[in-house]
Order: sequence, then C-alpha cells, then structure tokens
Amino acid sequence: MAALMPVVFVGCDNDNMSEKEQKGTITKEPFGTTKSGEAVDIYTLKNAKGSIAKIMTYGGTVVQLMVPDKNGKMGDIVLGFDNLKDYEEKSPYFGSIVGRYGNRIGNAEFTLDGKEYTLAANNNGQHLHGGIKGFDKVVWQAEPIESKEGPALKLHYLSKDMEEGYPGNLDVTVTYTLTNDNELKIDYHATTDKPTICNLTNHCYFNLAGQGNGNILGHELMINADYFTPVDQYLITTGEIRPVKGTPFDFTSPTAIGKRIDANDQQIKYGLGYDHNWVLNKNDFEMSLAAKVYEPTSGREMEVYTNEPGLQFYSGNFLDGTLTGKNGKVYGYRSGFCLETQHYPDSPNKPNFPPVVLRPGQVYQTTTIYKFSTK
Ligand code: BGC
Repeated sequence: MAALMPVVFVGCDNDNMSEKEQKGTITKEPFGTTKSGEAVDIYTLKNAKGSIAKIMTYGGTVVQLMVPDKNGKMGDIVLGFDNLKDYEEKSPYFGSIVGRYGNRIGNAEFTLDGKEYTLAANNNGQHLHGGIKGFDKVVWQAEPIESKEGPALKLHYLSKDMEEGYPGNLDVTVTYTLTNDNELKIDYHATTDKPTICNLTNHCYFNLAGQGNGNILGHELMINADYFTPVDQYLITTGEIRPVKGTPFDFTSPTAIGKRIDANDQQIKYGLGYDHNWVLNKNDFEMSLAAKVYEPTSGREMEVYTNEPGLQFYSGNFLDGTLTGKNGKVYGYRSGFCLETQHYPDSPNKPNFPPVVLRPGQVYQTTTIYKFSTK
C-alpha cells in the first residue's frame, strides 16, 4: 500500500473556532488501475471531529465512512470492497454516483422533443442506473478544494453526446464535503449542449451498526412523505401517487425497517421488500428533511436532507450473502439499505411527475446531506 501523501490542508480564519475545529485534511493514495488501464485514486477526507470519508475516482465512490457511535468509537457505516477489481466486477453500485439517469426507465426508451431514444435494457428489459457503463463505472477527475465547512473533493466527468444512448454532452460536477458538523454533503451540478434528461444520485449502502454487522431490520426509519409511487412487476412506476396511510409504506413516524418488510402486500411483493420511491413532503424544491434513521445498539442516527422531490428506499433485498466486502465481511440478506435522493423513477415517460429534462442554458443543481449524530 502506497504511503499517504498529504495534498492539501483546508481551514478558515474564523476567530471563534479553535485551531482543531478549523482544520480538515485531505490525503490521496493510488487504488490501482482499471481493466482498461486508467489509474484510480482514493482521497481521504478527515474533518475536525476525526470523522473520515474515503472517496475513489472510479465511480466517484464512497468507499469508507467512519463516524462515531454513542461511546465515541469510530465505525465504518458503508458497504464496499477492499479492492478495485471487486468494484469493477461485482459491485451492486456500492457507494457510487449514479447517472445519467438514476433508477429505472420503462422499456428502456423515452421521447424528448418528439424524438425517440433507446437506452440499454440492462434490468429485466428496463433501463437501470444509467446503463451498461453508467457514472458508477467511469473514472472521474478529482480536485481537492478548500472549504470553510470542511474538507471537500470536487469530481468532474464529461459524458459525451449519445453515451449510453443519452443525447447531449453533459458536463457533470459532483462535490463531496465532509463538514465539521459530521455531514456528508453532496452537491450535484450539470449542464448540457443539447436537450437531455438528468437524474443524479448516490448509492451508499448504509448499516449504522457498522458495515458487515448483521442486517438492517432493527434500524428505525422515518420518511417525511405522505405518498409513494407504486410500481409494476418490473419496478416501473405506474404513474399513480398513492397515500402511504394504512400501508407498510407509512414511515411518517419512526418504525423498524423489519416490522412490515414481509407484509402480505402486492407492492412489497414486487419490491421483494422495500424498493420504492417516496414522494417527499415539501414546497417546491426546498431543502428539507427527507428521512431519519436510528440504530439502537450503536446509538447512531442519520438524517437525510435534500431539495430533490423523491427518495428511493431500497432495503438491500438483492444482498444475499454471496458478496464478501471490506475486512472479509460477508454481506448477508438485507445487510445494508440505500436512501437515494432523486426525481421519481421513469419520469421521462410520466407526464404527471416533476420533469427531468435539462436544456442548454439551464443548470442542474441539487444538494443532498447525510448528517450523522448519536443519541
Ligand atoms: C434499485 C434496486 C436495485 C439496486 C441495485 C436500487 O437503486 O432500486 O432495484 O436492485 O439499486 O443495486
């Protein structure tokens, strides 16, 4: 393993902050070479509280996230692999940036300005997470940046016109900031030179008890949403916006994930558990609390804030013990969950959903914050 190379120190001049509070660090080390010969680096962001986010340039992937438990003990709370090869060959989007269109597009096609576009049908005849080589499988250009909030990493990728079937050169920047308030803040920014569609998210699999420490069924989840978007058997939204009240999808007050996950419910059966989009309660596209998750044994709590209108809650139903991840941990059934902030699945084909079209001259700009604390 190559020695850590400090590349930048960031801080600010606020007199009210102690020396320790002011500083975060970013270091960089190589993480191997992709099969196509591209060098990949890992950046380690450490904030003033000693929390750590490791992010690699392949897929803009969060490889490690170390935050304290109720006793102050640091633990890694995201699933992942120890080496690049496993990420390239086996990863179910562990920790990665997902795009150009996160989640599914029905029949892998859409029409924009009267023109039909065909995408890769990479999931049961549907399009999933940007196609065969989505943003999770490309190498991003990285730039450590100074930020008053904490250490940050700015990632850039130019997705070429018609890459994976999407029109327009899409210029994408994703900035991760590990703030001194123990937040992982993700800012997404994109522009295009032709009309296109865009829906970016992050695919961290969380386990607040620590990665590899059992299933996530005891986590208590609150989702700030009175409605969700039901799906068909291919997990394509039907266009309906249905109240959660009286269904296993009602997480308006904190409820253990496992409580109703195997309920006798058609939507639960289609998702093999939870794999659905919730319609977040909010005015327009304001930044607001989308979800809160509490894990009783560690005392860790995670809040999710976003200005996106939707949230995919995926309960790790396809994790089945066949993947061995970091430190030899075997990832059993439902051993991680994702909370993917987004526009609703299949929006390009659902005129009643908030639009996902990006035109030249417009700026795609969204922010999501995963905030960690204990109680
Ligand atoms: C989807 C799941 C899918 C998973 C891939 C999630 O975002 O909703 O259906 O299996 O990604 O790991």
